[in-house]
Formats: sequence, structure tokens, C-alpha cells
Amino acid sequence: MPPANWLLESPETDPALYPLILERCSSCTNLQLAFCLSAEVLYSHYYYITPDSISLTRHYRWLIDFMFHGGYLAADSDVLEIGSNRGAFLKELSPHVGSTLGVDPAENVVGVARRSGVETLCDYFDLSVAKRIAARSKPPSVFFARHCMAHNEFPQRMLEGVSHLLPDDGILVIENNYAAHMVRDSEFDQVYHEHMFYYSVTSLSELLRRSGLRIIDVVLTDLHGGSIVVFAVTADSRRSTAQTVPRLIDEERGTLSPSRIADFSSQASVIRDGLQSTIRKLSEAGNSLAAYGATAKGATLLNFCSLTARDITACADSTYIKQGRFIPGAGIPIIAEGTLFEAPPDYLLLTAWNYKDELIAKVRSAGARDVKFIIPIPSVEIVE
Ligand code: TYD
Repeated sequence: MPPANWLLESPETDPALYPLILERCSSCTNLQLAFCLSAEVLYSHYYYITPDSISLTRHYRWLIDFMFHGGYLAADSDVLEIGSNRGAFLKELSPHVGSTLGVDPAENVVGVARRSGVETLCDYFDLSVAKRIAARSKPPSVFFARHCMAHNEFPQRMLEGVSHLLPDDGILVIENNYAAHMVRDSEFDQVYHEHMFYYSVTSLSELLRRSGLRIIDVVLTDLHGGSIVVFAVTADSRRSTAQTVPRLIDEERGTLSPSRIADFSSQASVIRDGLQSTIRKLSEAGNSLAAYGATAKGATLLNFCSLTARDITACADSTYIKQGRFIPGAGIPIIAEGTLFEAPPDYLLLTAWNYKDELIAKVRSAGARDVKFIIPIPSVEIVE
């Protein structure tokens, strides 16, 4: 498979291909890639900029509210976000806390954050960055690592940095796609080179334990097809552990068992066959088809299903740096949302199905009332 976010400048370019193999660790049950591309290779061209999204903003507000009510955040908290991207979450949080600082390795994205007023260091967060932060200011007591742990081949280096700074009354919040829901809902398109680890509460507990940290609470959310929000503290912290933690670990013996993983694998083929035949029938009947959301998930889905620009003429996306480029392997051109709304197709494949309700509402409010939607996950479904 080509790296999902290596968007091409020309449809003729042959994308670089690398093995994409998902394995299950028999010792800690973690799902992970058998082959990881180095960060330098993987992030040499970085196109992911957090979109403007009603559902994301709602999620940020829920998380902030939850943390204030749970006593995890206070008006004088100093906050550090690892993998802060363009700073959308910190912008929402900063009016409520003492100070915020972001750390992100993607130069272009850090530029966007800084221009919008979010103080951000351009680096991979690890022990040396933690020491630099400790030397220059009052160390943070609240840490966020939202949807970035899975992208890191060496998460223990990041955790070493957190452990160095985290006080006993501090908190680390990890938000990540939840492996048990990925498997339950046949989300095989979550598998791409950037996602090196597919965490469960079991595997995250083990990883955190090795860095002197322990999980005290976990909340399940619908974000991105099912995510976990994990609250962790130092091993010496006096905070007690919520019952949810042992309960989820216990459930995962079933939800992430080898037989469930085997079902997940065969379900991917069922979806592929269903999507291929749906799209073939619609095309033969003379319908026009486009996709919505030039997601990394979309690259996995389209390549796995061998769908190309012959089947899907274009893919709309709001991220301006993606527009004018082509989805690797599929060769589908990425267009602006406005271009899509000007000449809507008969059917739209929702490659960003995790924003389903929001995208359908957006298409309808742009006046495209007759477009029908193909939802690929958890099973192929048409929404009229
Ligand atoms: P995301 O689901 O985070 O994808 P992945 O992690 O699989 O790459 O990305 C959502 C994509 O959808 C992103 O490229 C922006 C795009 N998008 C729109 O084009 N319009 C919208 O209204 C929203 C919410 C997202």
C-alpha cells in the first residue's frame, strides 16, 4: 500500500509502496504494524491539518467540561499538548486555564498554529524537549496526547518526557482510536502506515506501567468511529481508579480475541466485495460518483477495494493543501468542497464516514438535495 497521506502531484506518478501488515501481540494483545516506516520518511510531506468541524468543537467542549467537573483541570492549570497540530484544541482551551503550549513536529502545521496565536514548539516531544520546557518555564501539570500516540513508533520516548515533568497531582490525557471498536465495527480503513499502534485499555495500561504511569479512568466516545479518552497519573498519585478501567480490560479478553481479529479480517473482504459491486452497478446505470473527505482512511479503502479515478471522478476536501493533488494509488483528484457543490454527483462515497452527519448536512445545506450517500463502514449502506 502507498503511505495514505502521500498525496501525489500528478495522477501518472507511481506511488511508493510499502507492506501494510497488522499483527496482534500475543503478550499484551496490542494490535500493531509489522513494518513501520521511519518518521523522517513518513512525515516528509505532511498534509493533515485539523479541519474546522462542528463535531470536533463539540468534542473539545465536552472534554474541557468533563475535566473541570472531574477536578482534572483548574483555572490556573498549565497545559501542554503533544501533537497539537494547528492548535484547534488549545485555542478552545486557553481562555479557561493558566497557560497552554503545543508541541508538534510538522513545520508547516506549526506555522499555521503560530499565525493563529497558539504558542507551539516544532519538535518531537521526548525527554530532551521535556528538559528544555522545564528549564524555561513553570512545568505543565496537565498533558494531552490526542490522536498522536498511534502515529509514534517509539511511544515510550514520548512517555519518558511526560514522566519527567508530570507532578503527582498532574494528569496525562491520551485520546486514541479504540481498537475494540475498530474491530467491532469492521473499520479496516483505520489501518494505514501512520497508525502504527491500535491501542486498547489493556495494551495502553501495560505501556504506561513501563513508564511509571497508571490509568485511573477511561471514557468511550463516538469520535472518529470510536475513541477512548484515557486519564493517567504517576504511579505514586493518590487518585483512585474508576471501575471502568478493570471492566474494559476484562471485556477486551473477548472483544480483541484472536477469533474476533479473524472476523475483522474477513469482514474487510465482505465490505470490499459489497462496495465494488455497489459502485459497479451504479456506474453501469449511468450515475456519476465522487467521494467526500481525502482522508488517510480513504486511501486504504480505495486501494484495498481497487477503486480508481475510473470509478470515482473526484474527492472533495476542505484542506486547501490537499486540493489539486491526487490520492495515492487511486489517482483520484482532490477538489475543493465548493467545486463539488457547484456540480454535485448522483452519489457521494463518504471516505470521511466518521463525519457522516456533518458532511450530509453540509451537502444538503449547499443546496445539493438529490445527492445520495454511500457509507462504506461498518457495512455498505446507501443513504438517500
Ligand atoms: P479525518 O477523518 O481526521 O481523517 P484521517 O485521519 O483518516 O485522515 O479527516 C477528515 C478529512 O475530511 C480531512 O481531510 C478534512 C475533511 N473534511 C472536509 O473536507 N469537510 C468537513 O466539513 C470536515 C469535517 C472534514
